[in-house]
Amino acid sequence: MILKNKRIILGVTGSIAAYKASDLASKLAQAGALVDTVLTQAAERFISPLTFQSVTGRPAFTDGDLWNGQSHVLHQQLAAGAGLLIIAPLTAHPLAKLTQGLGNDLLSLVALSADCPLLIAPAMDGGMCKHPAVQENLRLLRERGAVIVGPEHGHLASGLEAVGRMSEPSEILGQARYLLSRSGPLKNRVAVITAGGTQEPVDPVRVLANRSSGKQGFALAQAALDAGAQVILIAGPTALSTPIGAQRKNVHTAEEMAHAVLHACHEADALIMTAAVADFKPSQPARQKIKKDNGLAAIDLEPTPDILKLIERQRRQTGFPKIVIGFAAESECLIENAMAKLKNKNLSLIAANNVSDENSGFGADVNQVTLIGADGAVEPLPRLPKTEIAQKIIQRLLGLLANSS
Ligand code: PMT
Repeated sequence: MILKNKRIILGVTGSIAAYKASDLASKLAQAGALVDTVLTQAAERFISPLTFQSVTGRPAFTDGDLWNGQSHVLHQQLAAGAGLLIIAPLTAHPLAKLTQGLGNDLLSLVALSADCPLLIAPAMDGGMCKHPAVQENLRLLRERGAVIVGPEHGHLASGLEAVGRMSEPSEILGQARYLLSRSGPLKNRVAVITAGGTQEPVDPVRVLANRSSGKQGFALAQAALDAGAQVILIAGPTALSTPIGAQRKNVHTAEEMAHAVLHACHEADALIMTAAVADFKPSQPARQKIKKDNGLAAIDLEPTPDILKLIERQRRQTGFPKIVIGFAAESECLIENAMAKLKNKNLSLIAANNVSDENSGFGADVNQVTLIGADGAVEPLPRLPKTEIAQKIIQRLLGLLANSS
């Protein structure tokens, strides 16, 4: 939603990494952005304007357009109303022009005219990249408020393995999304979000676990970031990559999660407990691997800490977190069981999750939840992608925060 109908100018300069800029343009367009590409003369040697026109569905501009007189003050027209200027890849010479305020081609003129945020993704050979003049230019731009993504260490066109590679389009896209979200309605709010399942050790190689993938919690973290929040994401074991801008803390057991949540919530505005926390753990995990030759072992279990109950105690003492949202994974009597948890754990909102359907809930990309408020109001949601469920919960969080202050 952050990029939907947002006009973004994508500047492309002359580097072999220009081919990656077309992927970036495509990803931006797929996210709903209106992408106006401006290529320098050197960029045109690596990639054609037609490539960008094809992936963005909008004209791509070159210096030829600046001089052909078809449009009046083209650089001003492009700059006016743009939400973001991304220059990727940005090589040493146009970087120097940016810092000096030189304007002798369409891209440098647009950069001088635009008053929107600037995000750059430098790309150059290793030696050039570490040259003091280049480093000084990057420092200057950073000081002026530009966001600099990369460059990364890796294989360069010269054959060198060094710092100078343009960051991947997905990373640049994530940074653009994060930059544009900072003035959202959750600006200056801290949201703590838990995700994934916990794992309780049985012996050094085995654990008691559940099927939570972390997808719903990570989607919530992204939705909260998109709304401008500062996000602390406390995650059980999962291979999912961290949404850009989130501060992630990895945990394994329910006890580790409890500790991390209590610590993170000290001054938090909201806690969303999406994690599937183990309710029981082996009382005495074996020190050595349990051998099957010794027959089937009985495992004694004991309860884990109930994190939401601990949080309730902390909230009564400190007033933080202001809002607590829980989930209830239920396979029967959905509303009844979820309402009992809502009351028992003193929550502001609970997402009652019907996990009886194999195609939604644990591990799936879609989820089926019913939102129940502290006042007992029930809002059943249709089966939706977890990203959309997350947006709806964040919308409800906005309302709860507004009412709490
Ligand atoms: O991770 P995914 O694959 O995307 O799947 C998402 C999900 C199905 C895990 C998620 O949508 C979900 O339903 N999460 C809650 C799962 C759960 O543990 O529900 P519960 O009914 O057992 O717990 C109720 C609430 O108490 C939950 O907010 C839970 O985080 C919290 N809890 C549970 C146990 C415990 N010891 N401490 C807790 O705070």
